[in-house]
Amino acid sequence: MNQLKPLIAANWKMNGNNALIAEFTTKFNASVIKDVDVVVCPASVYLESFKRQVSANNSVIQVGAQNLSDKLSGAFTGEISTEMLSEIGIDHVIVGHSERRSLFGETPELVAKKYQTALASNITPILCTGESEQQRDAKETFTIIANDIDAVVDLCGIESFKNGVIAYEPVWAIGTGKSATPDQAQEVHQFIRSHLAKHDEEVAAGVRILYGGSVNEKNAAELFKQQDINGALVGGAGLVVEKFMSICQNA
Ligand code: PGA
Repeated sequence: MNQLKPLIAANWKMNGNNALIAEFTTKFNASVIKDVDVVVCPASVYLESFKRQVSANNSVIQVGAQNLSDKLSGAFTGEISTEMLSEIGIDHVIVGHSERRSLFGETPELVAKKYQTALASNITPILCTGESEQQRDAKETFTIIANDIDAVVDLCGIESFKNGVIAYEPVWAIGTGKSATPDQAQEVHQFIRSHLAKHDEEVAAGVRILYGGSVNEKNAAELFKQQDINGALVGGAGLVVEKFMSICQNA
């Protein structure tokens, strides 16, 4: 991990409830977590009450959304706009998670649009990218990732990474218990940083690149020792307060 402040985000996906929110809110405070940005992304129905509870409890948790619409308002049943997220004080949003890409057909261009929409409302987008096992075997990892990142650079410019976060999440490591090794992750993180550096070295050096995919309380410390890993995006282990806290303390 280099000098950038680490960011550890939990993606609860379609899990969690009020009881879990209460547990996280009360246990995560400044006496146990220091010098780390902690973001928890619950399902959208819980965003507002979670946000209110962390504020009332002086919790270190920042609340993030898992998705947003690329549209600003209108007849888009079931969608949530950036203005709505802003109104309730949400400061982070995950865009382009592999489940959104594979199950909901989100293309690199649509994800870039969502990234742009979030930034326009001063919400920090966490841009996910990563290859499938098949793509890794075919040695397409760097191509896939460059393509996802270039879609954002093309639409929003390299400067947009001053206010965004990237999460490298190999699809084969998500929810499988089979994390990338620290070396495998570092290789890709380094690639991402050098790819951005072709446009702007300063922006590349300043962007936080998180690793995601079966991060847990046991493998986090080794991952965080890598030069270009600046935190984690955590699924399963982010639903268990002790595990998630241990990951944050390792950062
Ligand atoms: P996992 O999920 O930690 O359960 O592998 C990570 C993610 O999907 O962001």
